[in-house]
Amino acid sequence: MSLLTVSTVAALRDFVHQAKFKGLSVGFVPTMGNLHAGHMSLVKHANKQCDVVIASIFVNPLQFNNQSDLTNYPRTLAQDQALLEDHGCNLLFAPTVDEMYPNGQESQSMVSVPDISMGLCGGSRPGHFDGVATVVSKLFNMVQADKAFFGEKDFQQLAVIRKMVADLCIAIDIVGVTTERNDQGLALSSRNGYLSANELALAPAIYSALQDAASAIQQGNDFASTLEQTQQRLNQKGFKVDYLALCREYDLKPATADDKQLVVLIAAFLGSARLIDNLPFSLNQTSD
Ligand code: PAF
Repeated sequence: MSLLTVSTVAALRDFVHQAKFKGLSVGFVPTMGNLHAGHMSLVKHANKQCDVVIASIFVNPLQFNNQSDLTNYPRTLAQDQALLEDHGCNLLFAPTVDEMYPNGQESQSMVSVPDISMGLCGGSRPGHFDGVATVVSKLFNMVQADKAFFGEKDFQQLAVIRKMVADLCIAIDIVGVTTERNDQGLALSSRNGYLSANELALAPAIYSALQDAASAIQQGNDFASTLEQTQQRLNQKGFKVDYLALCREYDLKPATADDKQLVVLIAAFLGSARLIDNLPFSLNQTSD
């Protein structure tokens, strides 16, 4: 079946209604477009787990706290449609801002997910996760999918969405999909397109730094000094680290000596690009 593109909620609902009437399960991959192999991995997982796959492309103004970032965000619809078609996506929902926010962005009811939205990217980008939670909850209500697929690269976003779904009793399964990386270890991201050739060669140092930090901590090194040294090394290489944090995996609170399931998360500027990455890992469980 070839890819169908619709831009209205009515046409989307009609498609979903027909799929559900036939007893088909629906998988949903929300995106902001400029699709790459990371997104295609989400589509592949959706295809394996669901009968019908719907993707959305919407560059959501509510989650940008910087107007020029929103204006410059890459919009590559024709290329995205070709990729989705090649990967067996059935429907693309690509609404306009007016379709998404018919009463205006200012008077849109907002969804806010406390605590987990606050630090890390939420600390550096105030209001960002309110914008994400609002648009994702609207999309969930529009699509009415059985499962939705999100990349683990956006670790905090995934945690915010899981909490939102639990808190608001939204009937959808959230599936987290492992981060896709290039051969050098750089996490795939639309923002990699902002990097010069030199920066692209340097960027994989972010993931190596996370790996080194995780293994130093697994070997018993002190949390704070490991993070401090890692951050210094990256800054010396030409990054501007926005945050580097060691958190417990389940609620993203700062890790304590008692925690065993950890994640080290980073946001760092390289030139004009703000790159994020993370690495979950465990500490040996000791039996008392
Ligand atoms: O991860 C993204 O691309 C966006 O934050 C999302 C989930 C599509 C919401 O706009």
